[in-house]
Amino acid sequence: MTELEGRSAVVTGGARGIGAAVVAALAKEHISVVIGDLLEPEGTALADSLGAGALFRRLDVTDEAGWRAVLDDAEAEFGPLAVLINNAGIVDFGGIESESPAMFRHVVDVNLYGAWLGMHLAAPRLRAAGGGVIVNISSTAGLIGYAGVGGYVASKWGLRGLTKAAALELGPANVRVCSIHPGPIHTPMTEQMDESVAAAQPLARFGEPEEVAAMVRFLVTEATYSTGSEFVLDGGATAGQVVGLPGETR
Ligand SMILES: NC(=O)c1ccc[n+]([C@@H]2O[C@H](COP(=O)([O-])OP(=O)(O)OC[C@H]3O[C@@H](n4cnc5c(N)ncnc54)[C@H](O)[C@@H]3O)[C@@H](O)[C@H]2O)c1
Repeated sequence: MTELEGRSAVVTGGARGIGAAVVAALAKEHISVVIGDLLEPEGTALADSLGAGALFRRLDVTDEAGWRAVLDDAEAEFGPLAVLINNAGIVDFGGIESESPAMFRHVVDVNLYGAWLGMHLAAPRLRAAGGGVIVNISSTAGLIGYAGVGGYVASKWGLRGLTKAAALELGPANVRVCSIHPGPIHTPMTEQMDESVAAAQPLARFGEPEEVAAMVRFLVTEATYSTGSEFVLDGGATAGQVVGLPGETR
């Protein structure tokens, strides 16, 4: 994207994990970024390490007033909004019978409503600025089902669908909207997960946050004809099931 100079980006959940890698990748492209997150010390430290082109603002993505303040600050500090990365997310472990109603709602609130609110408030600004890019961090849980994380799966499928609706509405305004679907990535969110989760994938390893950030960078700066599409980085996990031929070992 060539229209990034003198414009701003907002990355939610940018204080750590995938979001922090995205912030660093955008900063490397000389894109000025506001990090919106609940984690103040981590977010401030990251912004400080990146210099004048980054700043931290405390943001709960479910809070409309907070969103307005972050978007206002981004535009006041760095120029009209060009990029929104809806990355903030949480997971709750619990089956259909065991997850509490409150937690189901909370997961959907943060992962889906939070991203909707961001797009709802950012879209008029992107439109007014002549265009921009929105990247929504969904998951392979937005492509297939997983047992024991129903709220998370519902939120990530929702975000995938919302991405398409937004792309259809905003395309004529030169605003591209895509979703990214990572498989297991090494971050604080997956700290408790066993590495064997990735064992059956064609690429039998976890991904790294920088690998997701590289996809975000590509979507923001180069994928000028892509909108409404899913971009998958999952080590091949959703390619199908490995059956194995007789006598074959992996
Ligand atoms: N790590 C993985 O394996 C993986 C795989 C697929 C998708 N994802 C998605 O990638 C995104 C980033 O995940 P991660 O692995 O880096 O997790 P993480 O827990 O390391 O980071 C998530 C960030 O979001 C912030 N956050 C949480 N709730 C928030 C709220 N209400 N308002 C603002 N910020 C909030 C957290 O403070 C944290 O900094 C999430 O949407 C997650 O669902 C992660």
